[in-house]
Amino acid sequence: MSKVPVVSVLSLKGGVGKTSVTLGLAGAATVRGLATLVIDLDPQGNATSILAAVEPTATAADLLANPTLANLHNSLTPCAWEVAPGEVDVIASSPELIQHDAFKSAAAFKPRLARALEKLDGYDLVLIDCPPSLGTLTRDALAASDLAIIVATPTYFGLQGAERAADEIEEIRKNHNKKLKLLGVLPNRVKSVAEEHDFRIKELGSIFKKQVLTPPIPDRIAFQQAESFGKPIQTLGTAGSREVSAIFDKHLTKLLRAINS
Ligand SMILES: Nc1ncnc2c1ncn2[C@@H]1O[C@H](COP(=O)(O)OP(=O)(O)OP(=O)(O)O)[C@@H](O)[C@H]1O
Ligand SMILES: [Mg+2]
Repeated sequence: MSKVPVVSVLSLKGGVGKTSVTLGLAGAATVRGLATLVIDLDPQGNATSILAAVEPTATAADLLANPTLANLHNSLTPCAWEVAPGEVDVIASSPELIQHDAFKSAAAFKPRLARALEKLDGYDLVLIDCPPSLGTLTRDALAASDLAIIVATPTYFGLQGAERAADEIEEIRKNHNKKLKLLGVLPNRVKSVAEEHDFRIKELGSIFKKQVLTPPIPDRIAFQQAESFGKPIQTLGTAGSREVSAIFDKHLTKLLRAINS
């Protein structure tokens, strides 16, 4: 298990904003001067295509295949984000990651990422961007984490996905990683004028009670602008990006408090 705090961002459902939340929190952390490592465990590699500034010497797939200290060091890849004063590095995705997502029975599952990160040093925070499944990769991320954040859109299927993710966190906590805690469920892409969204956020509250993280993240075009420019949302300088950056900063405060409690 890593000595550096590790936070997994997950959801069963695809496209709900896991990568956007991971990068939003990474941006908030660097603004505060925290040295941050993003691990891209999604074979799609969306976080990698935004963050990795150079061709990685080793990827997350190499690290899982062979969790040695040499592979760990080789996998730490610099990022070109210039958000003084902090720094972001990335452990890059690769299409080969899919080979590490194959189904394993509960008895056969052996956490590998936790082992690979045992000797990690020199960072203040690690954020893991999980794939849209609750397969072995997400289980590996959870087994290596101190905290988990479930991202959910305020929709019928979004809520179902959040409940399944919470069950998975509980299973990993019981059987593999006693220190794992759920920070909470973060509603994303919330439209303030949509009655359906109001209804689903109330429903989320009745299921997860105080574990629904506030404020929710609104639906803003700044997310798409940030990813197409390959820039942290904190540096866009638009009204929407400022609004969202302030929200990420609040969630970062909560996250750091939970880590230190
Ligand atoms: N709050 C938001 N407002 C507007 N657009 C958003 C918001 N959050 C995410 N998006 C957009 O939605 C799309 C999907 O987001 P993202 O890639 O972060 O989801 P994901 O859960 O990581 O997807 P996947 O499951 O494929 O990994 C992206 O184009 C992103 O820009
Ligand atoms: Mg993603």
